[in-house]
Amino acid sequence: MAESVSGNLAIVGAQWGDEGKGKIVDLLTPAFSIVARSQGGHNAGHTVLVNKREFILHLIPSGILHPDVTCVIGNGVVIDPGALLTEIDELERQGISVRDRLLVSEKAHVILPYHRELERLAEDGRGAQRIGTTSRGIGPSYEDKVGRRGVRLGDLADAAVDGPLAELIRANVNTRDRLIGGRASTDWRAVHGEISGFWERLKPMVTDVSKHLHQASKAGRTILFEGAQGTMLDIDHGTYPYVTSSNATIGGMCTGLGIGPQVIGAVLGIAKAYTTRVGAGPLPTELVGAKGEHLRAAGGEYGASTGRARRCGWFDAVVVQYAARVNGINALAVTKLDVLDDMDELNICTAYRCGGERLTDPPVRHDQFAECVPEYETLPGWSRSKPTAGVRREEDLPAEARRYLERLEAVSGVPAAIVSTGSDRADTIVRDGSLATRWIGSGS
Ligand code: GDP
Ligand code: IMO
Ligand code: MG
Repeated sequence: MAESVSGNLAIVGAQWGDEGKGKIVDLLTPAFSIVARSQGGHNAGHTVLVNKREFILHLIPSGILHPDVTCVIGNGVVIDPGALLTEIDELERQGISVRDRLLVSEKAHVILPYHRELERLAEDGRGAQRIGTTSRGIGPSYEDKVGRRGVRLGDLADAAVDGPLAELIRANVNTRDRLIGGRASTDWRAVHGEISGFWERLKPMVTDVSKHLHQASKAGRTILFEGAQGTMLDIDHGTYPYVTSSNATIGGMCTGLGIGPQVIGAVLGIAKAYTTRVGAGPLPTELVGAKGEHLRAAGGEYGASTGRARRCGWFDAVVVQYAARVNGINALAVTKLDVLDDMDELNICTAYRCGGERLTDPPVRHDQFAECVPEYETLPGWSRSKPTAGVRREEDLPAEARRYLERLEAVSGVPAAIVSTGSDRADTIVRDGSLATRWIGSGS
């Protein structure tokens, strides 16, 4: 790989989210001064295990668990102020200092109290085509943003009842009432009162994030960019319309933080050694029978935000090579290899059969995507050899697991820099000579 311009690193999900980004961010954070989120909201759930204690981060970057790091929430994130303050309180209760280390963009849009209700109505209106959203109000908040009527955190500074915030909320509530059509109207004063009530606590953290990152970079501080969701949930590049409402791919980090692309030195894609998805939409390699249930149980595949069972399937290299392209992924972190320990045989999807054609890229239409039949390469598992769980050195992996990783890299077209074999920080293999050794020593 060509030497990158900066020592900063972006972490992106290469599948449908829940790839294990939180664990990898936690692992890499000690090499950085700042950890920044650029998109999504509290629909994300990043689980990190520290000394056997489990932390689930939603809005706050996972880097917060390291005391010397500053965490940043960019303008591209949508913020439910109540959810943010609850998350801060919860972390502080657990002994993690947050308020003096967290900066939030004044341009970040606010999730208003009725956005959840709008989301529920939109989902109900879709009937069988429901997306299976997280019910956090994420989509309607982004809709208001793009509709140029959204409320931004900086707007909360002037809460006078005849001021600009009141005017903005009144206009929003009118739009909301029109959208709901004929149902009970909302009292804009109540919305205004609730939202403006958060300002005093938020104010000390609200700042110009772009400027902060620029100045920090100039002072030689390094940044880890923490992606939420994943490539196939990206509003532009994912399985539209079964996606989230933000750009979870690399471009979202520039727009969502106000930075230039050269600030991002390299891109690490996170991919599970198999595939999962929560919510509806195409998933060609899905396993609906006993094997799918086995993966769900072995991998603990239940949503960190909603508790929903995740759909599970074989590793899909069509998806991961596509993610590598749209994000410019330099290397992968392959997570949850240990979850495959009991499988006798493993499949890797290398292409789709769709409408008489062979496809090596995801089709644009979701109805076609849903009809794609995977073409598999079958490899022996390592169930009769030895488990990978907790393995920390590449040479300790069974030969079949090494072969599986080799094929996974070959068909995805990206080298694996990190292999994860358990939730614990230490259950990690850092490949010798790989991109990751720039930030973390070999082994763990
Ligand atoms: P994220 O949203 O991408 O951060 O991923 P989640 O935290 O939602 O889901 C990943 C889950 O897998 C978490 O519960 C992690 O603790 C766990 N996990 C991460 N890496 C590994 C691994 O290598 N092996 C196992 N068994 N679990 C892992
Ligand atoms: P992390 O960061 C997995 C999914 C939802 C739904 C779709 C749209 O933990 O990887 P939304 O509420 O965003 O409008 O829902 O996106 N989704 C996720 N799936 N991991 C996530 O985040 C997700 N965030 C949203 O399940 O299918
Ligand atoms: Mg998650």
